[in-house]
Amino acid sequence: MQRSLEGQIALVTGASSGIGAGVAQSLADAGAKVAINYHSHAEPAEKLAAEITANGGDAFAVAADVSDEHETDAMFDAVVKRYGTVDIVVANSGLQKDARFTELTLDDWRRVIDTNLTGQFLTAQRAVREFQRRGPRPVSKALGKIICMSSVHEIIPWAGHVNYASSKGGIQMMMKSLAQEVAPLRIRVNSIAPGAIRTPINKDAWDTQEALDRLLTLVPYGRVGEVEDIGRAAVWLASDDSDYVIGTTLCVDGGMTLYPGFADNG
Ligand code: BGC
Repeated sequence: MQRSLEGQIALVTGASSGIGAGVAQSLADAGAKVAINYHSHAEPAEKLAAEITANGGDAFAVAADVSDEHETDAMFDAVVKRYGTVDIVVANSGLQKDARFTELTLDDWRRVIDTNLTGQFLTAQRAVREFQRRGPRPVSKALGKIICMSSVHEIIPWAGHVNYASSKGGIQMMMKSLAQEVAPLRIRVNSIAPGAIRTPINKDAWDTQEALDRLLTLVPYGRVGEVEDIGRAAVWLASDDSDYVIGTTLCVDGGMTLYPGFADNG
């Protein structure tokens, strides 16, 4: 793999499993030092950091609930203490608490909005402040890069997941508004909208043949995504190869957002 992020420092939130872990691995493979944030599961985050380090990279695990501003501050403090600053911030932490609308509790509405949307707000805000504090670095044309992990559900409505879809719809406008505000500072903000990626969050959708067959009717490209698909997109968005890309959502979804139901209908 091309080491397009050599000398850069990255922070990935929610990186103890799933897409976050895959993104952390890909950024490390591209030469970045990586801070691996986790909320409740230290062990897999520590293990990933140890693996990256054993393979000649540099990584460490850092705890924080990104919906809490003090913990988010402490996370950035830990990264700055360890690596001096940060160049690439991937606001990835996210969860699902699915329920039919009439059964959706206020607690589960709030938990999902707090982590998925407010968490990205706090993470991005601290990132902008840190980029401004330390000023330009020779490692990149941009002052800093922020990547918001969205979802195809920033576009596709999702019955039974109103809290989740609302959080991702919110991320879309947060990302674009922020991108517009900080582009003059040479900070690039973009999103990735993953489709169905093989991770624990959607295991029920792919772990039996029947579920997989049903899922693949929604994916024109005919396969489930892998975390490396998202990792490679994150490396590109974080590197100077995408230096003129600002405020864009990159769908990495095998065509899920192309309304495959219309292929021979409508
Ligand atoms: C969700 C997954 C789902 C995928 C496609 C993602 O944002 O987290 O559970 O499989 O969107 O629907």
